[in-house]
Amino acid sequence: MSLSPIRKIAISTGGGDAPGLNAVIKAVVTTAELKGWECVGIRDGYNGLLFPERYPKGGVVPLNTATVRAITPLGGTILGSTNKGNPLKYRVTQADGTVVETDMSDQLIASIAAQGIDAVVAVGGDGSLSIAYELYQKGLRIIGVPKTIDNDLERTVVTFGFDTAVAFATECIDRLHSTAQSHGRLLVIEVMGRYAGWIALYAGIAASADVILIPEIPYDLAHIATHLQQGAFPDKGYGIVVVAEGAKPKDGTVSVVENRMGNVERLGGIGEKVALQLEQLTNIESRAVVLGHLLRGGSPTPHDRIISLRFGAAAVRALAKGENGVMIAIDPPEMLCVPLADIHHRMKLVNVNSDTVYTARELGICFGDDI
Ligand code: F6P
Repeated sequence: MSLSPIRKIAISTGGGDAPGLNAVIKAVVTTAELKGWECVGIRDGYNGLLFPERYPKGGVVPLNTATVRAITPLGGTILGSTNKGNPLKYRVTQADGTVVETDMSDQLIASIAAQGIDAVVAVGGDGSLSIAYELYQKGLRIIGVPKTIDNDLERTVVTFGFDTAVAFATECIDRLHSTAQSHGRLLVIEVMGRYAGWIALYAGIAASADVILIPEIPYDLAHIATHLQQGAFPDKGYGIVVVAEGAKPKDGTVSVVENRMGNVERLGGIGEKVALQLEQLTNIESRAVVLGHLLRGGSPTPHDRIISLRFGAAAVRALAKGENGVMIAIDPPEMLCVPLADIHHRMKLVNVNSDTVYTARELGICFGDDI
């Protein structure tokens, strides 16, 4: 199918934010301008188009080189984001309090056309990219850019935001060594990552953790207690455990907190549980620290800035070449286009037989299993 020439594109940032979003926006806008295309930003995922009445200053905002000039180092997204704005399953609360999921995708696509938008660059994680795939199947011209601190998207070596999250988690864990040492305590640090252990694994290795617990390796508390009592405590008098929010015990389940405003499982609480259980097992005073959303904030690292800028520029180049229904992926040194279909409902987990996991084990780090 031949596609009509592009004159105007829109950017949407959806799902949980990640450092580097603004850098992607900047590169999309400046590269589009070079092609002679107009560029706009949709507020809060697609809400700016679905509910324009909520935006007195406009649900769609013009973007140009001047408006994006200084945004590369900024955390968050100048367009706003939402992880409750799936246009295919929009949750509407009825007068009686019940929630009904409504498909608003036809309305969204009509609204995109009415704005004269020829193509969309959708920057998001698995949820937003699945939405992009479904909108593509309904005829929208769309290119995805992989965003998430969790690094859990298939077909790309890395997502932007991950490096910044790992760098900050590493700094926090580094700082916790000294207080753990002063008090002879066990410090348990819970990090984000959903059902993948990338952040815990990378930050745990970089910051010399004694134990790393990830969803991909269900743990046994007895092994962790033995490891700490026979290694970390006799050796240095304190212990550092990094636990991914989605880690779970053998034959157990993930730890969740109540999701008061949504329908997705909200992970959380595993750090406190592990600290309490290890204190009871080892009789070593333990404390838990949850890094949570701190990992999503702040200025992107130079690495995340560079890949975000490259992702944004590559997305526009791909559109200019006629690509559609694809995600930009990084496969160093190249940027590739991979079908959005390959990302849809898939998750990139840590390979437990990878060199990184072997290296961690060789460094003496325990994963809570019996290896
Ligand atoms: O996907 C990114 C992420 O930060 C996950 O690691 C975490 O589980 C989730 O978002 C939390 O999202 P929120 O609190 O914004 O709903």
